[in-house]
Amino acid sequence: MNTGTDTPGTLADPIDSTRIKADFPLLSTTRAGTGHDRLITYLDSAATAQKPQAVIDALTNYYETTNANVARGVYELAEASTNAMEAARRKVAKFINAPAANEVIFTKNATESLNLVARSWGGTNLGPGDAVVLTQLEHHANIVPWQILQAEKGFEIRWIPVDANGHLDLTDLDRFLDGAKVVGLSAMSNVLGTLTPMRRIADAAHAAGAVVTVDACQYVPHLPTDVVEMGADFVSFSAHKMCGPTGVGVMWGKAELLDAMPPFLGGGGMIENVTQEGFKPAELPHKFEAGTPPIAEAVGLGVAVDYLSALGMDAVREHEVRLTSYTLRTLADRFGDKLTIHGPSEPAERGGVFSLELADVHPHDLSQVLDEHGVCVRAGHHCAKPLMKVLGVGATARASVYIYNDESDVDALADSLEAAASFFSF
Ligand code: ALA
Repeated sequence: MNTGTDTPGTLADPIDSTRIKADFPLLSTTRAGTGHDRLITYLDSAATAQKPQAVIDALTNYYETTNANVARGVYELAEASTNAMEAARRKVAKFINAPAANEVIFTKNATESLNLVARSWGGTNLGPGDAVVLTQLEHHANIVPWQILQAEKGFEIRWIPVDANGHLDLTDLDRFLDGAKVVGLSAMSNVLGTLTPMRRIADAAHAAGAVVTVDACQYVPHLPTDVVEMGADFVSFSAHKMCGPTGVGVMWGKAELLDAMPPFLGGGGMIENVTQEGFKPAELPHKFEAGTPPIAEAVGLGVAVDYLSALGMDAVREHEVRLTSYTLRTLADRFGDKLTIHGPSEPAERGGVFSLELADVHPHDLSQVLDEHGVCVRAGHHCAKPLMKVLGVGATARASVYIYNDESDVDALADSLEAAASFFSF
């Protein structure tokens, strides 16, 4: 269904989510529910996206036809495996408009990518008297690595605040940046959906002499991404939130910075030479890929990139703006003041992530009732406890949409919220 938000004279939704849903076996197969078999309403893509058949097949196909370790063997099968992983790297580079494929580092996940930046760049360049600027929107993966390093290096951490509408308050940006060496910034909040003014912050950070590391976990799967246009120095994201497999993440960085940074993890694959006296690191990207990399997962990520590219990321974004608009409107119409939706009210300023509070129902209770109606949302602090504190809540129930969701999923959410409201009697 892709017509619910269309009005006469406007173009149709460029994404046909009914057709797309059929590509996702988990979404198009009924599951045993309470008393009857049913399709689930999956509204937790901010935690992890479902996988299309093409990605699932790519993993099986890789293991059936190409499995061998990479960058080690000289036999034909090992070369085929290396070629498959390097082809995936080139696809990812193109997808985010990276100037060179060797700037794309495969990691275990975005958390490892963000730790790599903190440990390798921060560990070399930060000391007492320095400042790292973070925002109150960050999730733990872009906070805790800096706090671990802070205990060792003794620098200051400053926080760009969030205003009442869920936007970053940049009033004191110049003061925050004075003396800063790093700015760690989420491109899109996993709690509020807020899209941040990355370019403005990156330009100001660079003018102040700081590098910019972007947590783009919620951004790359949903919007056209151009790392050059973002103005960032490092951009981290995960495959599993963009229809790819778990177990592989990406850290893109500018080659001149990566070249100057020490390796993050040591072992096979990341060296050019090792003697009893020491080692010489390999060239990029291998310098940052110690041990056997996530080969099959990287290949699967390449297929996820193909899948999203075929849809077109402009179309994905347009679909999500429409669905965000429908969601905000539907929930406001049906629940009014009883339901708080945290974050920006303008669909153009946010992604399709909706942190909800229904009167005084605890989010865990709420999500349990929703689950009884086959509606999957995440309840909790969303790995963003400092932001929860700013919002004055311990937890929220969070619904999030993607390419396979449409208005019927939002209606199912609203119906199940209504059932919860009646269950908790108000
Ligand atoms: N993966 C985490 C989420 O659900 C951070 O937002």
